[in-house]
Amino acid sequence: MSNQRFENRSSRRGFLRTTFAATAATLGAAALPSRGWAQVEMVRGASRLPADASARSVIIDTDPGQDDAIAILFALGAQGRLDVKALTAVAGNVPLTLTERNARIVRDWAGRTHTLPVYAGCARPLMRELLTAANVHGRTGLDGVPLHDPQAPLAPQHAVTYLIDTLRGAAPGSVTLCALGPLTNIATALTVAPEIGKALREIVLMGGAFFERGNMTPAAEFNIYVDPEAARIVFASGVPITVLPRDVAVKAPITPARIAPVRALGNRCGALVADIMAAEVAYQKGRFGVESAPMYDPCTVAYLIEPSLFSGRKVNVSVETTGEYTLGETIVDWTGRSKRPVNATWVTDVDADGFYNALNASIARLP
Ligand code: BDR
Ligand code: CA
Repeated sequence: MSNQRFENRSSRRGFLRTTFAATAATLGAAALPSRGWAQVEMVRGASRLPADASARSVIIDTDPGQDDAIAILFALGAQGRLDVKALTAVAGNVPLTLTERNARIVRDWAGRTHTLPVYAGCARPLMRELLTAANVHGRTGLDGVPLHDPQAPLAPQHAVTYLIDTLRGAAPGSVTLCALGPLTNIATALTVAPEIGKALREIVLMGGAFFERGNMTPAAEFNIYVDPEAARIVFASGVPITVLPRDVAVKAPITPARIAPVRALGNRCGALVADIMAAEVAYQKGRFGVESAPMYDPCTVAYLIEPSLFSGRKVNVSVETTGEYTLGETIVDWTGRSKRPVNATWVTDVDADGFYNALNASIARLP
């Protein structure tokens, strides 16, 4: 291991010792202030962006992961709409050593080896051991496609340090975080430097389940279940949040008929995305006997590109961190019964054909 790599690793370990302590202190604290949004309001996504709107600055926090890989490519193909500044990797679907590696492989696929930094972040949840989904995504995290050795190394900073430094220097409301995995990196950054929330326009995250039940336990969805304390911190942060939960993922299912047009694009990324989608469907078929798979992480990117494809409601979302059977459950106050303040927009519906049109258009722009 080179000296530089070694220093990076030991400074990460030192960083984590201090941030875990700060995070644990926050978990014991009273609920953080909300921005006092209106209680229970139906929303349809904002109207279409004008063609000349400047691209939205986005940092993608991710645990690739098959559907993460599709989401990253989707975002990278959406030049003009999204300006992806960096990928920050977190442990989740597979351990961090693989998620950061996979993130670097995906940027190579998109031809962004030297123009898109990848930062490695937290290697385990705030207060728990890491649970992975290698049974779903495969031992490498990217089952279904050939993997090469990444063409460039990680960026030197810890992902949480990168988030804090970048957001401290950013104009108010100028950056969007797109969160595709457990929320460990983001919760840690918001705990160490709560003032960075001001720089955030929004956190758009895949996680949770309410009308549809869990995929990790009967009650909980994977990203929230793996690090429920982190999710609780993020939902209490006062930052505007839009949630693309399982409820909406199952309404834009991947099917063989939807894979065919992606493969027909004829480019490298089209073939890779089609192969990953096919692997996701094969897993569902083997496990549940159905020839379709929920479309998870890419829904966040479609929401960023074309919010009018989605609809949902402004609600209070609480995260269960102690339940014997309900750990990691997202409790959505759909009718405002609890009088808890609104802290998120919970998306429930999608124009699935519009989603696949947007996905295919974006992947078509890649190598
Ligand atoms: C989420 O869990 C992960 O396995 C997927 O990448 C997605 O982010 C779905 O529950
Ligand atoms: Ca993910």
